Amino acid sequence: MSTAKKGELVVVGTGISVAGQITLAAKSHIENADIVFMGIMNKVGEHIVTTLNPNCVSLDDLYMEGKSRAHTYEQMADRIVQAVVEGNKVCAAFYGHAGVFVTPSHDAIRKVRALGLSATMLPGISAEDCLIADLGIDPSQYGCQSYEATQFLFRDYRIDPYMTQIIWQIGLAGEATLKVLNSEHNKPGLVLLTEILLENYPEDHELIVYEAATLPVCEPKIQKIRLSELVNTPTTLISTLVVPSLGLPKYRQDRLAKLGLTEQEVSNYRNPNLSEKGN
Ligand SMILES: C[S@@+](CC[C@H](N)C(=O)[O-])C[C@H]1O[C@@H](n2cnc3c(N)ncnc32)[C@H](O)[C@@H]1O
Repeated sequence: MSTAKKGELVVVGTGISVAGQITLAAKSHIENADIVFMGIMNKVGEHIVTTLNPNCVSLDDLYMEGKSRAHTYEQMADRIVQAVVEGNKVCAAFYGHAGVFVTPSHDAIRKVRALGLSATMLPGISAEDCLIADLGIDPSQYGCQSYEATQFLFRDYRIDPYMTQIIWQIGLAGEATLKVLNSEHNKPGLVLLTEILLENYPEDHELIVYEAATLPVCEPKIQKIRLSELVNTPTTLISTLVVPSLGLPKYRQDRLAKLGLTEQEVSNYRNPNLSEKGN
């Protein structure tokens, strides 16, 4: 029987503001790992994780202006997998929720499992979770569509204006090369996004450019703008765009009839405090 130590991987999220949002479970896995890889993108967050386990390695050195992020993510996953193959108990800590808009976390898990070794992911607090709290938007009110800006621009997706839209990575909207690491080139993307939104909303529809606080002492940045102002609104790599709902859609009488119900009978089937107008 082999006595060689088997490597394993646990991927954790640190939350957006690491000091206050890291979960007890994530903390415990970080503390007990042989090695911790960090994709936290924030020096304070890295410092907190390093105090939990001194054997931490940042993955940030793999980012380079002009280098494809696809290649960077592949290298991140390979670095994590290699440490598992070497027999280590590995923890990979990414900011927010490690499974939300994070390619190397999912890739590393797939690769480790393909080798017959254990790999799991724990939930964390994502930007969307912070947004729900800071903006008071409950996804159950109108439903919610949540998507990545560039993929949305490139493909034949449809907006349902009665649902809340959460549009991620607007700082890189329309950036197809994957080689850009700043938000200075997204104007053509925002022009096109505005055009698409104008097919669904009036030009004075209020949007929110949102940035959750990354430190407990800071406030979130909540910038309310009109749709017509989107193109000229400064955005960063951590900006998320929220397009509030136009309100509840009309009842589908045909569906109610199939259930033997009337509009009057189901009118309480929603939060009675909600107006028909969106928020
Ligand atoms: C690569 S994704 C990482 C998301 C992260 N894993 C999470 O769970 O929130 C980066 C995108 O997440 C959103 N994001 C990241 N940090 C944010 C913050 N502090 N406030 C609002 N949105 C944020 C932005 O849309 C940004 O372009």
